[in-house]
Amino acid sequence: EINACLFDLDGVLVDTAIYHYKAWRRLANELGFDFTEKDNEKLKGISRIQSLKLILEWGGIKKTSKEIEELSQKKNDWYLEMIADIQPNELLPGSREFLQELKDHGIKIALGSASKNAIIILDKTNIRHFFDAIVDGNMVQASKPDPEVFLIGAKLLNIQPQQCVVIEDAVAGVEAALAGNMKVIGIGDKGVLKEANLVVASLAEMSIDQLNSL
Ligand code: BG6
Ligand code: MG
Repeated sequence: EINACLFDLDGVLVDTAIYHYKAWRRLANELGFDFTEKDNEKLKGISRIQSLKLILEWGGIKKTSKEIEELSQKKNDWYLEMIADIQPNELLPGSREFLQELKDHGIKIALGSASKNAIIILDKTNIRHFFDAIVDGNMVQASKPDPEVFLIGAKLLNIQPQQCVVIEDAVAGVEAALAGNMKVIGIGDKGVLKEANLVVASLAEMSIDQLNSL
């Protein structure tokens, strides 16, 4: 039986994955190289600093830790500019409706996001009140695919991992959920999110019945 739903944020509830991608590409371009949408899949779900380290590796560029700190700050400034005017209409299809359906059925809701900007986005898109627990990038030590972010969420909700389902758009996030002994629903492409228990194109396809059939 499923008693809790743990949501990733970027690319699951809100259409912000594209802004992360744009800001990282801008940084790479400024450093003199580019990366593809396929490479970008590897950046989804992991922390800001880990993303940057991976990108620098792709570009064959070495930086000191001070420079890395400055570059990650630069990317975040661009990202914050991009999301400054984000509105509830940038919620992905079905997000709000599915959160409401879970609430109506008494299923606990948590956020499990790698982002340090999660609260800003929940506020601007008007969905913060749905969450019984919020775990974001400011609260975890280990990045997905480590299950820490979801295990803390389950603990805060006081629900066993086996009774939790995670909703994720990132390969690292799917792996984190499975490592935490949770069920996982992928949002996106079946070919990419191979390990998920179920993959749907968007939350608009989700229902309570589907949760219980996992
Ligand atoms: C994840 C995104 O949710 O958060 C990653 O999938 C992002 O792309 C990570 O890098 C960290 O986000 P932030 O907002 O702390 O830079
Ligand atoms: Mg995501």
